[in-house]
Amino acid sequence: MSILTKPDLQTVIRERHSVRHYDPSVKIPRQEMEEILSEAILAPSSSNLQPWRFVVIDDAELLKKLHPIANNQEHVLQASAVIAVLGDMKWYEKGRQIYTMSEEAGYMTEEIKQYFINSAENIYANMDQSVKESIIDVDAGLISMQLMLSARARGYDTVPMGGYNKVKFVEEFKIPEHYRSVMLIAIGKAASPGRPTVRLPLEDVAFWNEI
Ligand SMILES: Cc1cc2nc3c(=O)[nH]c(=O)nc-3n(C[C@H](O)[C@H](O)[C@H](O)COP(=O)(O)O)c2cc1C
Repeated sequence: MSILTKPDLQTVIRERHSVRHYDPSVKIPRQEMEEILSEAILAPSSSNLQPWRFVVIDDAELLKKLHPIANNQEHVLQASAVIAVLGDMKWYEKGRQIYTMSEEAGYMTEEIKQYFINSAENIYANMDQSVKESIIDVDAGLISMQLMLSARARGYDTVPMGGYNKVKFVEEFKIPEHYRSVMLIAIGKAASPGRPTVRLPLEDVAFWNEI
């Protein structure tokens, strides 16, 4: 991929691979990290309630602390940062703020706003814990993918990580109880490319009209 021209989306998608070796001398500037996160948060979410929260861990000492919690995965120490993707289990409490912003922007009427606020405060708030967790996990997955593609489009690489001790992570990093730790994403400048991976043939995974 040329650094002079912006890659198109197909190229970004095809060239993204999980990278496990990073150049430790490259620190992604905070402003660029914010741009990546700003693009990521354009991802869709259930009722646009945006349950995701991020902790960007870019302090070397904290990455050292994270290393054993993340099963000693080497890339945790080499990456520019590790982004902890969290879900706020009380995310629906921001419904009023979100829908008021929508109304003020002229994107919904007062009546529709009230309908959505009611849904957030009465339906979402009273869902079973397992349903809440499922919504959080789906939305956090979508945002994580968007984040990884945004990073790749800017010449950075990532690896999503589920291989870490979530209990230890929330304990050691003092994550408040109402956050659910969904995944970690290491991000940085690749020192060597990700290894190629295969995909099942499309006909094994995609079906038309019935399965
Ligand atoms: C939810 C999830 C958890 C993962 N956990 C890890 C992990 O802990 N360590 C790791 O090196 N890769 C991890 N991976 C990366 C996968 O191994 C990788 O995405 C898969 O092999 C396909 O390769 P690709 O990403 O290069 O296309 C994880 C991927 C996902 C989606």
